[in-house]
Amino acid sequence: MDKKICMITGANSGIGKAAATQIAQQGYHMILACRNPERGKTALREIEENSHSTSLELMIVDMSRQSSIRGLSKNFFNKYDRLDTLIHNAAIFDITQKDVVYTSEGIETVWATNHLGPALLTKLLLDAIKSSEQGRIITIASKGLKAKPFLKVDLEDPEFRKKKFSLVDAYYQSKRAQVMYTYWLAEELKDTNITVNCIQVPAVQVDISKYLNLPSIMRFLYSLKSKFALSPEEMAGTYTYLATSDEIRSVTGKYFDEKRRIVKSNKYTYQTENIEKVMNLTMSYLKQDSG
Ligand SMILES: NC(=O)c1ccc[n+]([C@@H]2O[C@H](COP(=O)([O-])OP(=O)(O)OC[C@H]3O[C@@H](n4cnc5c(N)ncnc54)[C@H](OP(=O)(O)O)[C@@H]3O)[C@@H](O)[C@H]2O)c1
Repeated sequence: MDKKICMITGANSGIGKAAATQIAQQGYHMILACRNPERGKTALREIEENSHSTSLELMIVDMSRQSSIRGLSKNFFNKYDRLDTLIHNAAIFDITQKDVVYTSEGIETVWATNHLGPALLTKLLLDAIKSSEQGRIITIASKGLKAKPFLKVDLEDPEFRKKKFSLVDAYYQSKRAQVMYTYWLAEELKDTNITVNCIQVPAVQVDISKYLNLPSIMRFLYSLKSKFALSPEEMAGTYTYLATSDEIRSVTGKYFDEKRRIVKSNKYTYQTENIEKVMNLTMSYLKQDSG
């Protein structure tokens, strides 16, 4: 494969689909890593049509399950030995979820999907990213973290086994952990050709039609919010910039906003001791080494 290769998770909707379209337009071969084959195929056809690129393929992964992520990695290495850009876009925030849900592997689903999944996928694909002339790893956090300045990763109970489940806390905990993971990984890879950066996503329009049981008041509030939110295409511009721009080929360990500016994250996320604790916890979940 002569083209640069970019894998993006959760590419079948929203920002992921828009970013996949834009990056395909820049001449990259796109691997759309999606969990649902039908939704993935439909997105692939749309991206093909809108980007005028045929260099796209679908790979199936459920980012909440480590066995599935290992399967994705195997499928990838069966075809390729190099990956230029990895975008950890997939995440869940199911606004209809009230109670804690554990995956079939016994891990709380938000923690498993939004934080552990990206950490494992990077770990498995790292050799391929090291084979790139200049590899890039992009993680995704949320501007909403600003409204939770005191929320830390709960080192004792990250999976809500002892305390009452809160979807909002579970989501923001996973996103704060992603910010800290970004800084940790950038430091780990500082002597390599790989950069690692995180994007702080503000309110962006979401397709709420997928939430079938959404109460009408929530439906109303979301449609109101979407009037002030960015479109997925606008937001995807920052993904595309970080994935493809030559301007930032040596920028690593930074936090970017939707205007492509480097911004500061919460003080807690920069402290080495905190990062080490969060990463020790993270690694305790990723022990199995076989692919
Ligand atoms: N929209 C916002 O206001 C906002 C704000 C802050 C941060 N963000 C972040 O921006 C990123 C993109 O969100 P979006 O707005 O584009 O939302 P979205 O349209 O809901 O996209 C999320 C994508 O993740 C996929 N996904 C979820 N669970 C998965 C799993 N277990 N395995 C594989 N894929 C999975 C979804 O696939 P399915 O279609 O199969 O569910 C979907 O393709 C996320 O990281 C989100 O946290 C968004």
